[in-house]
Amino acid sequence: MRISDDTIRQIHDATDIVEVVEEFVSLKKKGQNWWALSPFVDEKTPSFTVSPSKGIYKCFSTGKGGDAISFVMEMEGIGYIEALKYLAKKYGIEIEEEELTPAQQETQSFKESLLIALNHAKNFYQDNLKVGEGKAVGASYFKERGFDWEIIEKFELGFALNKWNAFEENALKNGFKSEILEKAGLVIKKEEGKSYDRFRGRVIFPIHNVSGRAIGFGARTLKKDEKPKYINSPESEVYHKSQILYGMFQAKKSVREKENCYLVEGYTDVISLHQEGIENVVASSGTSLTEEQIALIGRFTKNITILYDGDTAGINASMRGVNLILEKGLDVKIVTFPDGEDPDSYVKKIGGEAFKAFLEKNQKDFILFKTALGLDEAKNDPLKRAEVIRDIVETIIKIPDSIKQSVFFKECSNLLEIDEEVLIEEGNSILLRAQKKKYNQQRHDGGGKSMPPSVEALIPEEKKKESVDPVMAFQERECIRILLEYGKEKDEDENRLSDFMISEIDQISFSTPVYRKILEVYKLETGKGNFVDARFFIHHPDADIKSEVVNLISEKGTISETWEKKFKIIVPEKDAKLHKVVYSNILRLKYRTIKKLCAESMELLKNSTTEDEVIENQKIYFELKQQENELAKELGITYS
Ligand code: GTP
Ligand code: MN
Repeated sequence: MRISDDTIRQIHDATDIVEVVEEFVSLKKKGQNWWALSPFVDEKTPSFTVSPSKGIYKCFSTGKGGDAISFVMEMEGIGYIEALKYLAKKYGIEIEEEELTPAQQETQSFKESLLIALNHAKNFYQDNLKVGEGKAVGASYFKERGFDWEIIEKFELGFALNKWNAFEENALKNGFKSEILEKAGLVIKKEEGKSYDRFRGRVIFPIHNVSGRAIGFGARTLKKDEKPKYINSPESEVYHKSQILYGMFQAKKSVREKENCYLVEGYTDVISLHQEGIENVVASSGTSLTEEQIALIGRFTKNITILYDGDTAGINASMRGVNLILEKGLDVKIVTFPDGEDPDSYVKKIGGEAFKAFLEKNQKDFILFKTALGLDEAKNDPLKRAEVIRDIVETIIKIPDSIKQSVFFKECSNLLEIDEEVLIEEGNSILLRAQKKKYNQQRHDGGGKSMPPSVEALIPEEKKKESVDPVMAFQERECIRILLEYGKEKDEDENRLSDFMISEIDQISFSTPVYRKILEVYKLETGKGNFVDARFFIHHPDADIKSEVVNLISEKGTISETWEKKFKIIVPEKDAKLHKVVYSNILRLKYRTIKKLCAESMELLKNSTTEDEVIENQKIYFELKQQENELAKELGITYS
């Protein structure tokens, strides 16, 4: 039985966090939020706050925080389902429980069967290590590598006997079905009636999921030059290589605490570092990093330090994954080791404390490292240099944070001895090309979504020379300024101000070319999910845009008194009701536009020659005039 998604949604919708919390602590309103003495500690001054708009609580004394459901779980000491039931009762919502469909039940129980079989195998391999062949060969191998018993237990290491059917026989005897053993990747079936254990005569490294259950195995040969060195479990219903990082279960607590995750290549690197007291470490198991693996790390920290073997092949392999990491907004550092050493061998050689000091001293920012490495490889070859530059720029533009991005543009321009401008320009042209490609693709696919191919192309020739109404220009300028200064802000419903503004001004075309250009770039970037601000435009290659934005922000918030008096402009302040300011700004802009159109239409009307023309133009004029009046009414102000 499970609570239906629909019921869960109803509960979420109905729940008011203030009402829920008030049942347990007495809240006082201060500004937007509610405050109370923390229910989790004994304190004199309130450090517990509830934000109704965000639907969350936060206790600054204990660091606890969450939504209404987690609050109830915490206070009542109950589980998620019970907390949902508690809230459903409070809000009179009837709980609809769903039975799993037979198919769902079957997958559920199939997966469960695999996990049980894998767990049985794990125990079997662990037990082998304690007696006979396993003890003589397996345990002494680990000992030789310097793993102590405590660490062997922690990682649940084991040994697979050097026999064809040792595990299978044991499992069948214990009632496991051979189909399950095969699907779990533990037993390999040849033709009818013939089968054998996948892992034989090897030491076993169980691979755990984040909650600590064994989902697969890595098995290392004991012979010096045997290939393959490792045999791994195949993909199964419960083991998806691309989603797993070896050691995450054992590392996650430390990763959170240290706010950093070391990424190594191999099982033995993870284990040796743990043994030396470095526990925030996971392994990609020799393959390049996937998006899911990065997201997995991202759940625990935003900082990754890659510890890779000294050889260039290893470094180049690891580079491929890194753009992906940067794209996700994670910070990446890299440490390389002396030739022929990997983290396992090196920590053994110099010991834990010296190793930590080595990491501290040798960690380099990934982008700068990559730049230096590329330059070193390119030497004086101009073609190769150009390639390095393009490569670096492509990496930098992946960084979602525009402040960090501009720092990297600057630092790399020093390293490459190239003007920062040139790098930024290259970056913009890469973005634009990608955008164009996407646009053409969309048109090709008949997606029909209009995406501007370039900024200039959007502005009709005649408009570029058109004279501009100064009042309108002023209003447009205000609009741009609000976008740049406040576009990232969110309202109570988590809508971004920029989205609201852009949708509101969608129908009107700015009359001032430079503002129109800025707006188009702004839309282009936000369309890509980048939230740009003034800083971004300061680095824009378009000189007009750049100088306009510099002017705009350097006179931040100061509007000459005459302008203010003349046009009753509300100066946006941080604490002003932003939405209202923006809304009236947009209204004014619309109002200005309509007024201008009205005047133009009046001209047309005056110059009409035929009766038909008069009727037609009159109709347009009155429609516009009516809109103008409505807007004026809504604004509650009249100009001139
Ligand atoms: P040791 O030699 O025991 O120290 O292992 P290592 O981790 O240093 O091995 P290496 O650096 O060669 O490889 C790193 C990781 O790549 C290993 O931990 C495995 O996950 C994986 N790997 C290495 N060799 C093989 C192989 O032959 N087959 C497969 N499937 N994976 C391998
Ligand atoms: Mn090694």
